[in-house]
Amino acid sequence: MAPQVILGVSAGIAAYKACELLRRLTESGHRVRVIPTPDALRFVGEPTWAALSGQPVSTDVWTDVAEVPHVRLGQGADLVVVAPATADLLARAAAGRADDLLTATLLTARCPVLYAPAMHTEMWEHPATQANVALLRERGAVVLDPARGRLTGKDTGPGRLPEPAEIFSAAVRLLARGAAGLTLDLAGRTVVVSAGGTREELDPVRFLGNWSSGRQGYAFAETAVARGAKVTVVAANVALPDPAGSRVVRVTSARQLREAMLASAAPAEGPPADALVMAAAVADFRPAARQEAKIKKDTAADGVPAPIELVRNPDVLAELAARRAPGQVVVGFAAETELDLAESRAKLARKGCDLLVVNRVGNGLAFGTPDNEAVVLGADGSRTEIAKGAKDVLADRVWDLVQARLG
Ligand code: CTP
Repeated sequence: MAPQVILGVSAGIAAYKACELLRRLTESGHRVRVIPTPDALRFVGEPTWAALSGQPVSTDVWTDVAEVPHVRLGQGADLVVVAPATADLLARAAAGRADDLLTATLLTARCPVLYAPAMHTEMWEHPATQANVALLRERGAVVLDPARGRLTGKDTGPGRLPEPAEIFSAAVRLLARGAAGLTLDLAGRTVVVSAGGTREELDPVRFLGNWSSGRQGYAFAETAVARGAKVTVVAANVALPDPAGSRVVRVTSARQLREAMLASAAPAEGPPADALVMAAAVADFRPAARQEAKIKKDTAADGVPAPIELVRNPDVLAELAARRAPGQVVVGFAAETELDLAESRAKLARKGCDLLVVNRVGNGLAFGTPDNEAVVLGADGSRTEIAKGAKDVLADRVWDLVQARLG
């Protein structure tokens, strides 16, 4: 039977975007029952939800009492998605209130629950909301980080509902985990992932870069979100859509990536991250000087260009590992054109990380492709082969290894 999804809609202007989410869910074969809060109907009316879902819609516990909907709907669900989740809805859910059909359903649901918050930045950043979100995450709910951007009115900042496509992809991952009997084993954990490839500027129009697309790093972020983690992605020049529910920090160069990783690994406020994954391809060298003006070919004597002088970039992974907080698990990558596991073991020791994911790159392998395969070496001497498969599968296998190392 098709999976049963409850789509909870609370009273935010972004309720109209939940119509698109509903369409995606029904068109991909899910049965969806929509439960708006009474005030949500001020934004999108009951006929819209009923027509799009093909199912009856009620907001209170007094309709169809004979069927005991306040218990039955939650018990029968494979997934509850609340989009948008307002500050008030998150507060009521965290407090365990049951003052409408949606909150009653949240109390009776034993399936994964996914919240997609949307509110003004001030409301999102308020300590009350942050505490409510932390509590819901600790209890095992998946709370997506809101997107950053234009809000209702003139202001911009974090608080936008993540795109319906992103919420949909997080929902599908959660359903798959639920169907496989897997728990949200990273619930309450904070992880930081670097993704993409750094660029080192030569002049205002040119850079030294690499072919990393960011796919593998984004797969780490998306799979960690689906396992309940709070995720920050430090994205170096990634052209992909944002990974659902992560906080994305954009950087260009290795030095910017270093700053962002160190700040996210041990934030000034709050506890250090539980795990760090350095999936980004970081340039080992950068031009010694960035030219202020575009380098002209005519300045080269006899048409022979002056060599570009390079200097070493900081080794971010080695520094993260050296400065790691107690219990923090640090994962590095070794992108090699030739596999030599003895050399990889030496790299693991040199970098000081807990796990090193060794994969072959170049000549059509790994970079920009949907698949990857790897050998994961552990500082404890372990060795895990991950067969060729989707980058998501590789990420999930590595998270299994990280999870086993978390205290
Ligand atoms: N890395 C890093 N900072 C650098 C270079 C690499 O943090 N300046 C990280 C990468 O993100 C990756 C790991 O180190 O997780 C290994 O990258 P790789 O390029 O294989 O290692 P290098 O130290 O550059 O070794 P090699 O001499 O083989 O290039």
